Amino acid sequence: MKGKPLCLILLLALSLFASHSNSLLLSTSKRWIVDEAWKRVKMHCVNWSSHLNSMLGEGLDLISLKDLIETRLQFNCVRYTWATHMFKRYSSHKVGETLDSLKLHGIRLGLRPYNPSLENATLVEAFDAVIDEFGRQGLMVLADNHVSDPKWCCGHNDGNGFFGDEHFNPEEWLQGLSMVANRVKGKSQVR
Ligand SMILES: *[C@@H]1O[C@H](CO)[C@@H](O)[C@H](O)[C@H]1NC(C)=O
Ligand SMILES: *[C@@H]1O[C@H](CO)[C@@H](O)[C@H](O)[C@H]1NC(C)=O
Repeated sequence: MKGKPLCLILLLALSLFASHSNSLLLSTSKRWIVDEAWKRVKMHCVNWSSHLNSMLGEGLDLISLKDLIETRLQFNCVRYTWATHMFKRYSSHKVGETLDSLKLHGIRLGLRPYNPSLENATLVEAFDAVIDEFGRQGLMVLADNHVSDPKWCCGHNDGNGFFGDEHFNPEEWLQGLSMVANRVKGKSQVR
């Protein structure tokens, strides 16, 4: 995934730390990552997408959010991806309606037994619910701005790359970063 996502993670991380001085800052000491108590932090991360068309973490129609996060094996950190347009253009759209509009009725129905509170939540409320569950279960999160237009990425012609691309509006991107930074401010699980 080239250099872009990492740059964005770092940028988001910097804006988070700049605006929230009490968060658990990570820094480096020689070759180690350490926390504020200079204790070594080892990050074992997995990816979980919520930047695709449905803008919802995948799999929540098959297992409850709590159980899904509890099944973590050898990792302590999740790179949770999000799309700028979810916050800037679709923030009040509801999860179930979004799934219907993508003809994913089956997934909507699957939410009812496993994650009923998400079906009629807004996309952004569902994002918060996931971030909060990571925190409850002690996982670190990298809130990763992955794309602007929510969809599978990262080809050379998906319009979602960088400056000059169809879906990449730098002003909207900065606003999106700031919105998410403000949303997760004070949530120490977000690194
Ligand atoms: C997460 O995604 C990145 C970028 O696509 C990839 O390089 C990395 O191997 C993935 N990590 C895991 C644990 O799948
Ligand atoms: C969500 O809203 C729809 C339509 O109002 C309703 O039929 C459905 O039961 C609601 N889902 C839950 C889990 O409350």
